[in-house]
Amino acid sequence: MLSIEEMISEAKKARELSYSPYSKFAVGAVIECKDGTLIYGANIENAAYGLCMCAERNAVFQGYLKGYRQKDYLQICIIADSEGITSPCGSCRQVLSELFSREARIICANMDGEYLVTNIDELLPYSFSKGNMR
Ligand code: THU
Repeated sequence: MLSIEEMISEAKKARELSYSPYSKFAVGAVIECKDGTLIYGANIENAAYGLCMCAERNAVFQGYLKGYRQKDYLQICIIADSEGITSPCGSCRQVLSELFSREARIICANMDGEYLVTNIDELLPYSFSKGNMR
């Protein structure tokens, strides 16, 4: 399992792939799978702003397209160049809650080396799933 520092360094590489001319806010994400595979994601924007796609969602979707599933994910690191630490948007939380492992760690980091380690249950308690309130 990669260390937090190694995950941050990989997420920085992913961030380089961002296409974000509108927000000018580049975000990178990297997922480490249990077999050691790294899957990269970055935010990709569009002049029709509503079509912009977040870095972490791109990474999780790419993993699925490579055949990985929820149980195969070990950890994800999401990085942005922000003063504090940027936390995943609500849509990404919902997607992670269904497609990402509950046990996996979620590292949110910035370019200054600050980070926070969390998980999906902390980020999105009572996430949408039919009939999951009780
Ligand atoms: N963004 C992400 O990539 N992840 C998030 O969790 C929040 C926002 C991207 C979307 C958009 O391209 C830019 O950041 C500004 O919102």
